[in-house]
Order: sequence, then C-alpha cells, then structure tokens
Amino acid sequence: MYEQVSHSLLNAILDDLKPEIRRQDLRHFYTRLGANFYAIYSLFFNLYGHREDFKAQMLRLVETMAKGYIDRSAELERVDIEREQNHNWFLSQKWVGMALYTNGFADNLADLATKISYFQELGINLVHIMPILMCPTGKSDGGYAVSDFRQIDDRLGDLNDLRRVAEEFRKRDILLVLDIVMNHTSDEHDWAAKAVEGDKRYQDYYFVFDNREIPDMFEQTMPQIFPESAPGNFTWNEKMQKWVMTVFQHYQWDLNYSNPEVFIEMLDIILFWANQGVDILRLDAVAFLWKKIGSSCQNERNAHLILQLMKDCCQVTAPGVLFIAEAIVTPLEVIKYFGEDAIIAKECEIAYNATLMALLWDAIATQNTKLLYQGVKNLPAKLERATWLNYVRCHDDIGFGFDDNDIRAAGYDPYAHRQFLVNYFSGQFEASPARGMVFMRNETTGDARISGSLASLAGLEAGQEMNDQGLIDTAIKKILLLHSLILSFGGIPLLYNGDALGVVNDYGYRDDPGKSDDNRWIHRPKINWDRAELRKKQGTTEFALFNAIKKMIAIRKEISAFADFNNRELVEVDNPHLLCFIRFNHDRPSERILVVANFDANPQYLDLYLLRSRGIDPFGQFVDLYSGGKPAQYDRRMVLQGYQFYWLTEI
Ligand code: GLC
Ligand code: GLC
Repeated sequence: MYEQVSHSLLNAILDDLKPEIRRQDLRHFYTRLGANFYAIYSLFFNLYGHREDFKAQMLRLVETMAKGYIDRSAELERVDIEREQNHNWFLSQKWVGMALYTNGFADNLADLATKISYFQELGINLVHIMPILMCPTGKSDGGYAVSDFRQIDDRLGDLNDLRRVAEEFRKRDILLVLDIVMNHTSDEHDWAAKAVEGDKRYQDYYFVFDNREIPDMFEQTMPQIFPESAPGNFTWNEKMQKWVMTVFQHYQWDLNYSNPEVFIEMLDIILFWANQGVDILRLDAVAFLWKKIGSSCQNERNAHLILQLMKDCCQVTAPGVLFIAEAIVTPLEVIKYFGEDAIIAKECEIAYNATLMALLWDAIATQNTKLLYQGVKNLPAKLERATWLNYVRCHDDIGFGFDDNDIRAAGYDPYAHRQFLVNYFSGQFEASPARGMVFMRNETTGDARISGSLASLAGLEAGQEMNDQGLIDTAIKKILLLHSLILSFGGIPLLYNGDALGVVNDYGYRDDPGKSDDNRWIHRPKINWDRAELRKKQGTTEFALFNAIKKMIAIRKEISAFADFNNRELVEVDNPHLLCFIRFNHDRPSERILVVANFDANPQYLDLYLLRSRGIDPFGQFVDLYSGGKPAQYDRRMVLQGYQFYWLTEI
C-alpha cells in the first residue's frame, strides 16, 4: 500500500542508512521492505509513536533488518524465494516432527549430527532442538532462562556444531526448529547485570520498581505460573534495591516491550538465528509479552501487535522462516496468534494445539469422548495459511485448561472434573495405572497440573514394574491410539523424544538441587541407546511401539487428505467411547479417510447408518490403511477392539 507519511519517512531513512549498508546490493530487500513498510510503520507507530525518539528508533529498525539481510547466505536466500513461491509448503502431510533436548537425545550437538539416521528411520523430518543457549547452571528453567542469546551452552557445542547440524538437516530435507525466549532473560544476562549495576538504560529493558506500590497493583489481577517454586510475580533485588517483574521463576526477568530498544534487540536475535539456517523459530511464552495493570497480563492486544511487527520485519529479511507460537491458552485466544483480520497468518504460522492435547488425555482418563467432542467442536476455525502443532506430550506439564462451558456441556462439574483428572494421572485414583506427578498445585485456586512421561501416564511404567503383560499391552495400545490421532487430525504432529521407544519417567532429577523443585524434569530423560536397540527385536515393547509409529508416519505421508487445509469434518456418533472424523482431500473431496478411535478398554461398535448423511454407504466395504485389512464388520456395524483405531478408506 502507498501511503505518503510512511513513504516519505522511508525515503528519509534510506538516505540516512549507514554507508556500508547503502553500498550493498539490496534489491530483494528493498522490494520486500517497500511492500511491508506501511504495515511495519503503522505497527511501530502504534506501539512507539508517542516517543520523542520514534524516528531514530525506526531508522535503527530498518538498519537491523538490512544488516540481517546482508548476513543472509545465498543458499538461505534461495530457500526464501522457493518458499515464497510455494507459500503453503508447510501445510503438507509430509511433515512429521520431534522435540528433544540435545543432551536427552545425544551427548551434544556434534553427537546429534551422527544420530540423524534415527530420525530418518522413524520418518521424522522436522526437529525441534530445545533451548541450547547459555543459562546459569541450576537456574536454567530447562534452557528458558537465557544469559546470552548468541552463545551456545559450551557443554552442547558451539555455533559451528549447530551450523553443521543445520547443514546436515538441509541435505536430508529435515527442518530445524529452535527456540527464541522472547519474554524474559536470566537474571545473569548482561542486560540484567547492567541494570543491577544501576544502568538506567538497561533497567528500562525490564520492569523495575522502587517499592511495592505498582507491583501490588499488578498482582491484583495476575495469575501465578509457578506458585510452588516461585510465588508472586515480582522479586526483590537486594543489590539494586528494587523490585523486578519475574512472572516465571525468580531468576527470569520479564522484558519490557514498551521499550522499542527491547523489540529491536530481539529482532536482531531472531534474524541472527534465522541466518544460521533455522527454518522455524519457536517463540516462547508469547501470551505474556505485554503487561498491563488491571489485566491478567496475558493475551493483551499489544502482545499481538509485537508479534505482527516481528513477522512483518522477519518477512523482509528472511521470508522463508516460520514462527511457532507457544501460547498455552484457551482456543479462542490461541487462534489469535495466527493473526486476526487476515486470511494469511500475519503473526505465527503455527501454534501448539494444547487444547487437543489436554482433551486426548481427558478421553484416556474417562474412557469416553464426551469432552473431546465438545472441545474439538468448539475449536475455532483457523486461517487458511496456518496450522497446528498436534502433540501428546512435550517437555512441559499438562494443564487441563479446557473451557468450563465445555466441561459443563459434557455433563461434569468443572472443579470436580479437573480434580478427578489430576488424581487419575497422579495415580491417586484406585483404578488408574498412571504414574504422573502433581505439578504446581495452587492452594488458593485449587488448580494443579500434571508431569510425567507419555509411557508412564499410559501405564507402561506400572505394567513393567508389576511385570503385568496385560497392563503393558494396554499401555502400548493407548500410546498408539494417541499417536494415531495426532498423526491424522490435521496439522504437524510433534512427537516427543523417547515416546516412540516407550521411555518412562526419570526420577534422577530429585538428586539435583538445581532441578529438584521442578518435577517437569521427570519427563526429560536421556535416551539409553543400548535399550533403544530393542526396537529391532521382535517381541519387545520398544519394537511394538517404534514399528507401529514408524508405519503410521509412512502411511500419513502418502495420504494427501491428511494435509491441513481445514479439511476435517467431525462426525457425531451414538457411542460415547468413540471419536470419529472424516479427512478429505481439499482438491478432490471424494478422496477421504474415515478416522475412528475407541478410547474404551472394551470393544465398541460404530453404527455406520449414522454416516449416511456424510455420503458413506452403511453397507459399503472399507479397508483400514493402517493394518491393511478389512475392519471387523457385521450388518451395518463396525467393531473396534479396546483402544483400537482405524484409518479407513472406502473401496
Ligand atoms: C515456556 C516453556 C517452559 C518454560 C516457560 C518459561 O512455557 O515451554 O518450559 O518454563 O516458557 O520460559
Ligand atoms: C507456560 C504455559 C504453562 C506451563 C508453563 C511452564 O506458562 O502456559 O502451561 O505450565 O509455561 O510449565
């Protein structure tokens, strides 16, 4: 769009650019800057237009983008252009991801580069390497308390090791995902250290206060994230003699995005990592980016403006790079992170589908799909060029943050039902084989979350300990059922390190004083590669899980109806234990897959007559793509064993 004010400013900025920038060949850069400038200017003005130094900051912003562009390699620019031409590339069903900690998967980055064949064996082609940057030992929050945004933790390797990983991935068409911890820094970050020394410029990077007056006002409406290990949202800094906002742990200082310098610093960091060959950046804790007194300080409108601005700027310099929003918030709020008022995602192209994750766990605990249906029905439609990350487990806890209205509609009392789930997964419920732990119980609200590995939550740990083959087999079925759904639902499935091998809880964190107050470490184990060899040995749990998941992944990649073009129809059936939906090919709607999953331990049937209105012949013949066989059928009824699933096609 051409708009006089912003364009005369753009001309002035181009005249003022540093000579070394002006001398470069910036053709593509200028084209994109011209196209995005009005949006960038408007957003930047909206956020920072009231400041005296607005124009100077705007010049710095453009210089930062230009510098990022100059540093971008020819190879990465080629990828940018290719992705611009095929801009829906990431909606394809061919992507299957895995998230892992470097030292949970390998010894370090160099060693990880030697284990890429494991990804290929399983069919993984998108790898989220969890935070690798420097953090103070014992105060790391699992890598999310960064003390230097450009320095890799030397126990993991250095920049050359990472570039090597990126290169090896690219050769094999594997996407690399890294974190950008935007919301806060470690209290040992240089900026924080300078703030502590009394440097006003850096105190303005954070929220620091002389007394409790303003913190107390904030506290009235701010929830607590880690009420057990870090109660409250402010921490007293003895040396500075000031209060600092610390929403997460006491040592994680929240950055103040009402200061444009903070935004520009973070943009520079984002472009730096984009230029190391990262394909997708996972933006951590984005719901928290804007703080406003009188609000929960989550999902604020300006947090969205910050992300839109980040996207627009990144598109000018590195348009091939995508953003993942890590916003573990209600469905109505989460879809806003794709960007509002647009068809094309204007903020983050990808977002965690935490709602589906929690709903799947609900169905496991209750053995019925009442809430799952309710929740999936109420998942708002998302933008066209946007997709979910569908997952069962990740490095974080499970929060049962469903909509209270959905819980009521499913026939439960919200408080009692959440209590039941926490009890079920922490094994306090008699019939439950789950071995989870309660995470961060908040005594005031009664709220609690759950930690634990997928295998342990599914009952595998209990089964192995009691040497109960029945329990083990059930756990295997549950693990496969859950994977069959994240692989078919629509979006990018994201497996978690160890889950395809049935790795159970690791209790070792209890002996480490830097970890013992955070039981999320229970599900961040290290793969035992000798044990992992059992995936090649028939009759073992590892073999059963690994090969079944591998097969599902291979099949998924062949089915274009599994690509994500909002091409899913939820089908209501009259059996409360089943989940049933149809995926169709968005180009050829007659090509479709009927997905049916049984969350009950007992066999259940599906009355095919109910599918007539969907154009499915109740007496038709089907093939289950997963097993290759015909589903058990009599009359118009199709039968599923306990925890069985089908991916059906009509013949
Ligand atoms: C995100 C991370 C989590 C971390 C938090 C604070 O939610 O996933 O592990 O504790 O941000 O950085
Ligand atoms: C984020 C998530 C929350 C999670 C926390 C760290 O705040 O919203 O669900 O528990 O990070 O575990």
